Amino acid sequence: MRPAPAPRVHLFVCANRREGSTLGPGCGDRGEALYAALKDEVARRGCIQDVWVTKTQCLGICPKRGATIARWPAAPPSPILADVEPGDAAALVDGAEPDAIEREIDALEELQRTKVLDLARRLKPGLTLEDIQNPHDFPELADPDWHYADGVLTGIQSVRSALRARRGT
Ligand code: FES
Repeated sequence: MRPAPAPRVHLFVCANRREGSTLGPGCGDRGEALYAALKDEVARRGCIQDVWVTKTQCLGICPKRGATIARWPAAPPSPILADVEPGDAAALVDGAEPDAIEREIDALEELQRTKVLDLARRLKPGLTLEDIQNPHDFPELADPDWHYADGVLTGIQSVRSALRARRGT
């Protein structure tokens, strides 16, 4: 198990289909339509990296209209929303886009990550981003300059996490 990159918001859209069940046909086509509307909205706003939209199976609500979605991270009033229609797509994506400060911090993080990786590769050619997440596996990374650069990266990531926590995204 290891930490992996995460979006600012991840929306899971039920597009489950079932036949001959007392629970009904599932979100099915309604879920597909909602999924398409959300993907269009995210693409239109240019925030594909920030807002991930994923189709999923039954989320346990099985509404008679619209579809069910689960939102991560959870946001009030509930992490699960039912009866969601394609017309709700804009509202679901609202507030999920980074503001100017967060975009600046994201750019700083990318710059610093590149610097940390470049330094690591000078010490041991061929290292990957995944490798440098486990620096103790590579004695070559016992270098004060590399550790300083890696510490700066951790600091930038901490600021970004604090900002996101403050915004609730
Ligand atoms: S089929 Fe969509 S929530 Fe159950």
